[in-house]
Amino acid sequence: MIKDSYGRELHDLRISVTDRCNFRCQFCMPAEQEYEFYPRSEILTFEEIKRIVEVSVRLGVSKVRITGGEPLVRKHIENLVKLLSEIKGLQDISMTTNGFLLSEKARSLKEAGLKRVTVSFHSLRDEVFSKVVGRSIKVSQILSGIETALEVGLHPVKVNVCVVKGLNDGEILDIAKFFKSMGVVVRFIEFMDVGNVNGWSLEKVVSAKEIVRVISREFEIEPVEKSYRGEVADRYRYKDDGLEFGVISSVTQPFCGDCNRLRLTADGKLLTCLFATDGYDIKTLIRGGASDEDIEDFIRSVWHSRKDRYSEERLEKLSKGEVIRKVEMFKVGG
Ligand code: GTP
Ligand code: 5AD
Ligand code: SF4
Ligand code: SF4
Repeated sequence: MIKDSYGRELHDLRISVTDRCNFRCQFCMPAEQEYEFYPRSEILTFEEIKRIVEVSVRLGVSKVRITGGEPLVRKHIENLVKLLSEIKGLQDISMTTNGFLLSEKARSLKEAGLKRVTVSFHSLRDEVFSKVVGRSIKVSQILSGIETALEVGLHPVKVNVCVVKGLNDGEILDIAKFFKSMGVVVRFIEFMDVGNVNGWSLEKVVSAKEIVRVISREFEIEPVEKSYRGEVADRYRYKDDGLEFGVISSVTQPFCGDCNRLRLTADGKLLTCLFATDGYDIKTLIRGGASDEDIEDFIRSVWHSRKDRYSEERLEKLSKGEVIRKVEMFKVGG
């Protein structure tokens, strides 16, 4: 186990496999803007990613999550899953996807060794969904992805809802009810100021407390202990059927104290925070012929010097009018 400068252990590695996406979500990469993506030569190969994960596992990582952009637009992504599933000591391989290609890909992902998926979901209504993701999308397409994931056994399937005031906050209860009846765990995420382009303001945030209040008006619920230290979601159980939902309160109740996540970008940089301004270049090291020990030393020193606690500092930074250039959400992968 390695610890950072606040004593936090390294447990999770979130791997962004591409910065490209087939959606243009308002809270991530608004459709009105133009984006530049990494050229192919800059993107880590699956073998390079596998090597970084193998070394990370020796340093204590037991969970990896594949993210993007949209991870399913990376060609042959199941080949990466297969490579990672061969690593001894890695207990969990999951993926966060927008679900558009999931009905097509779920089976091969499962066969390759993916354990579970989390699908981002924004509204039960086609017009609202399309407005949020900046593309004309039928909700049924995403739902059939979720159903296929359930059928092939990518359990537990979770759903992430980013709640933005005036956009989809009127649907909190409907979405909760809908997935409750499907037996799928929903997590409502407070709209966060990731990156620089999503037009975030505190007024657009619906607090986790308010989300819980809306659901508790209709259902009897009780809080559930976190299932592991550093879990981002606060969990609640419906008393009638024992199913759960969660809230992720990064803005109103930050959880940096237990943050045990390291992030790897598609172009081979290690980020020690979702709100990082810059990364540590591990690709140049690898492509320069480094040994596994060199890579291990590099990751250890990055983690040792880690001091991030952005969400706990956010309000203070805002009140001082501090402006920082953060890495965009689609390059970090959430
Ligand atoms: P589980 O392993 O199922 O608990 O997954 P998870 O909650 O770690 O993964 P997921 O990608 O579903 O995370 C949910 C969302 O919470 C992410 O997409 C981010 O928006 C947010 N989130 C995850 N990790 C962090 C973090 O370290 N800091 C902050 N501020 N938000 C995070
Ligand atoms: N705030 C909160 N959640 C966000 N997501 C994307 N952008 C934001 C944001 N600004 C969600 C996505 C996905 C996960 C990666 O994070 O919907 O579920
Ligand atoms: Fe794509 Fe996910 Fe960003 Fe939406 S939130 S634009 S699906 S990467
Ligand atoms: Fe971790 Fe940074 Fe999120 Fe805090 S803001 S929980 S340090 S990723």
